[in-house]
Amino acid sequence: MATKILVTGGTGYIGSHTVVELQNAGFEVVIIDNLSNSNIGVLDGIEQITGIRPAFVEGDVCDKTTLNALFEAHSDIKGIINFAASKAVGESVEKPLKYYSNNLVSLINLLDMMPHYGVKGIVFSSSCTVYGEPDVNPIDETAPIKVATSPYGNTKQISEEIINDYIRSGAAIKSIILRYFNPVGAHPSALIGELPNGVPNNLIPYLTQTAAGIRKQLTVFGNDYNTPDGSCIRDFIDVVDLAKAHVVAMRRMLENDQTEAVEVFNLGTGRGLSVLELIDAFQRATGVAVPYVIGERRAGDIEQIWAEPTKANTVLGWRAEMPIEDTMRHAWAWQLHLQNK
Ligand code: UD1
Repeated sequence: MATKILVTGGTGYIGSHTVVELQNAGFEVVIIDNLSNSNIGVLDGIEQITGIRPAFVEGDVCDKTTLNALFEAHSDIKGIINFAASKAVGESVEKPLKYYSNNLVSLINLLDMMPHYGVKGIVFSSSCTVYGEPDVNPIDETAPIKVATSPYGNTKQISEEIINDYIRSGAAIKSIILRYFNPVGAHPSALIGELPNGVPNNLIPYLTQTAAGIRKQLTVFGNDYNTPDGSCIRDFIDVVDLAKAHVVAMRRMLENDQTEAVEVFNLGTGRGLSVLELIDAFQRATGVAVPYVIGERRAGDIEQIWAEPTKANTVLGWRAEMPIEDTMRHAWAWQLHLQNK
């Protein structure tokens, strides 16, 4: 019988791609999502790609009644991947309580219920934001955690601490914490991808909307950083590569291969690309021009950060493989799919 996995936030951007990879790998998936930043149509995309429609519960992980009912109905859930969280940095500064409540209460509820329902482990979505502005690049998992620059970032740090404290207290569960760098792209089928709400904050959705003529021009936030071309540097990781890492992590957790009850992995390519280089890669890969201007620096931006992914490469046996040009083509195909819907 297939092993059952609960994916919270499974209709979201990274969640939906992970559901696809889990189902392709033979796992049975139950999704819980409150559709606050996604829509139900994502299930059609998942079904078209995999031939399987995952079980779906519309509800909030912060709501214990809903969660208990879910675990009662699916008493054979063995693992959880927790994507359900709010993730807009700017909004988190304006509505900190929304972020602390959504992101922390949901995690606490899951952790609290796991031993009771016999769930062995939880894969948690963290972020490279926990490293702040790195002292050295590439950055590995032993680097110090810096003071968070936003409530969003703080919820990731606190979540990691909550998981560690809970397991240290003797809770009979395991966890793998995945620190994502900058997830970009979409499924090659163009049937699922990122669904930005309103004006996008992140670079790629803004870029593809500009290329499509929905936005007049992209603003590059600063070209006076201490980097070769003056724009910020990030580690852009393809969302399908990222999704595959969750499958590997889940197997490791459930097959008792973990050497520690809590393990942390950076998920990145190991290659830093500047904002200007990324625009160039998109234009080269798609042949579509992206009108852009250089603007002011964006408050709170990190100058440069890219991953040392060796631990994930060797211990998980996972590696980011998608060439950036392919990732850009997929992002563009997804943008066109959104427009033709
Ligand atoms: C932010 C968060 C990160 C989170 C990610 C996804 C921080 C410090 N970073 O990453 O934790 O996981 O969002 O939600 O909390 N840029 C432009 N023009 C634009 C948009 C972006 O030049 O219109 C630049 C930014 O200045 C930055 C780069 O593109 O240098 C990437 O920005 P973005 O996609 O927003 O991601 P991060 O800020 O790196």
